[in-house]
Amino acid sequence: MKEKFFATTPIYYVNDVPHIGHAYTTTAADILARYNRLKGRRVFFLTGTDEHGQKVEKAAMEKGRTPKGHADIMVENFKNLWIKLNITNDAFIRTTDTEHKKVVHELLERLWGKGEIEKRSYSGWYCTPDERFWMEKDLVGGNCPDCGRPVDHIEEENYFFLMSRYQERLIKYIEDNPYYILPETRRNEVLGFLRTQPLGDLCISRPRHRLSWGIPLPFDENFVTYVWFDALVNYYSATRYLAPSVHGSRFTVHGDWWPADHHIVGKDILTTHAVYWSTMLMALGMPLPENIFAHGWWTVDGKKMSKSLGNVVDPNEMIDEYGVDAFRYFLFREVPFGLDGDFSEDTMIKRINTDLANDFGNLASRIFAMINKYFKGEIPQPDEEEKEIKNIAEGILKKIDDSLHCLSFHKALDEIWELVSCTNKYIDLSAPWALAKDPGKHARLMTVLYSAAEALRFLALYLNPFMPDATQRLWEQLGLEGELSKINLDKEARWGRLKPGTKIKKGEALFPRIEKVGSRKGLEAGSKD
Ligand code: MSP
Repeated sequence: MKEKFFATTPIYYVNDVPHIGHAYTTTAADILARYNRLKGRRVFFLTGTDEHGQKVEKAAMEKGRTPKGHADIMVENFKNLWIKLNITNDAFIRTTDTEHKKVVHELLERLWGKGEIEKRSYSGWYCTPDERFWMEKDLVGGNCPDCGRPVDHIEEENYFFLMSRYQERLIKYIEDNPYYILPETRRNEVLGFLRTQPLGDLCISRPRHRLSWGIPLPFDENFVTYVWFDALVNYYSATRYLAPSVHGSRFTVHGDWWPADHHIVGKDILTTHAVYWSTMLMALGMPLPENIFAHGWWTVDGKKMSKSLGNVVDPNEMIDEYGVDAFRYFLFREVPFGLDGDFSEDTMIKRINTDLANDFGNLASRIFAMINKYFKGEIPQPDEEEKEIKNIAEGILKKIDDSLHCLSFHKALDEIWELVSCTNKYIDLSAPWALAKDPGKHARLMTVLYSAAEALRFLALYLNPFMPDATQRLWEQLGLEGELSKINLDKEARWGRLKPGTKIKKGEALFPRIEKVGSRKGLEAGSKD
C-alpha cells in the first residue's frame, strides 16, 4: 500500500476575492486528503496563493497599495475561507516566500546551466490581462484568442525555455500513462493539439521596465521570471520547506514528497500544467506528478460568473446560509467532477432537502428515536448478523477507493447513498414499530435496531471526508468517542464494531429542512478587497 499522499490545488491569484470556483478545487483536494488520512497514509495537502505578475501589480495599484501589501491583505480572504470550509491543508504557500524564491532561482540556474534556456529577441502580440504572448496566426479578429481582449505588439529581448525540444517526449509520456491527465476527454484534447501543432518555446522572462513585480532572473537582473514559471514551481518548492519531514529530512534534491499524486486544476489551466510544467520537469530531470486532473467550470443560473453580471457566488455566504457540510456535499454530488455544472440555490435546496434532510437525516432521527423508545437509549444486542446489509456496508469501501482513485466524487457518493437507501428500506420492511408490539419478536427488534445503528456508523465513516462536521456529530450521537477524522478506516469499516450497550446521545437533527427560497446577495460582503 502507498504510504504517502501529496495533493495540490492551484495557487490562487490574490488580485481578487475567492468564489465558488476556488472553493470547489480546494474542497476536492480536501476530500482526498481527508480520505487518505483515514486510510492511514501520511498526507501532504498543499494550497496557497500566486502573488507575482501583472494582474496582482495592477490590482494593487488600483487600490493604492504595494503589490506585497495588497497580497498580505488579500491572502487572508483565502485563509479565512479555508478555515470556514473545514479545509485541512497541511501548508499554505505564498510565492512571495523567500524560500520559494530561492527554489525558483535554483531551478532556473539548473536549466540555464544545462542549456535549456536561451536569450532571444522576440516580436509578437501580448495580451496583458492574460500575461501571454500570441503569434499573429493565433489572434481572433486581432484580439486575444483566449479572452477576446485587445493585444499589444511588443518587440523585445527575452529568455526562452526550449520547450519545443520536448514535444515528442511529452506525447509519448501522455500516451504511455493513461492516468497522467484525467478526465480522458481532456487528455485527448491535450494529445490532439500536441500531435497536430508544433510546440513553441516558452518565454519565461519579462523585462523589468515593463513589469517589476516578479522574481528577478538569477542570471540577468534586468528581467523578472514569468509568473507561470514561478507559480508552477510552488508544487515542488513547498516540498522543500513546508512539507512535514519524512524519514527525518526533506531537503534532498527531489524532496521526499516529490512527485505529487494529484495536481487538481480547472480546465482553463490544464495546458500550463500538462505542457509547461511537464516539460519543465523533464528538462530538469525530475519525475512527473502521478496525475493532473482538470475539473469543469461552474456557471450560475446558466451564466458565466462575472463581476459585471453581479452573479459571482460567495462561498462564505453559502456556508452561512446552508451550512458547510451541505455546501460541500452539493458541490460534489450534483455534477460529476470533470464536467461543467450549473450552480443554483434552488437546486442546492432540493438536494439538501431530499438527500440530506430526508434520506439521511431522517433515517438517523428515526433510528435514534426508536432506540430511545424501545431500549432506553442503549444500542441493543443483536441476535444474528444481518448478512445483506453487512455485505453492502463493508463492500462500499472498495468502491469508494476505486472511485476516488479517479476523482469520481459523485460516484463515491452514489455508492455511499446505496447504503442510505438500503438502510431506509431495511427499516421500512422490518417495521420495528410492529415488532415492538409483539413480545415474541423482541430479539428480532434488537437485531434490526442494532443493524440500523451499525449502518449509521458506516455512513459516518464513509461520509466523513465529504461532510466532516455532520459526521462527527453523528458519531457522537451514536455514543462513540474521539475524533472521527483520526480513525483508521480499514480497521473501523468492519461490521459489528458498534458495541451493544453503548449509550446514544441526544442531538439536533443532522440536516434541518430548508423551507425558504435562497436569497443571495452577491459577492461583496465579508471579504477584504
Ligand atoms: N494562479 C493561477 C494558478 C497557478 S497554479 C500553479 C490561477 N489562479 S486563479 O485564481 O485564477 O484560478 C484558480 C482556479 O480557479 C483555476 O483552477 C480555475 O479553473 C478555477 N476557477 C475559476 N473560475 C471557476 C469557475 N467558475 N468554476 C470552477 N472553477 C473555476 O489560475
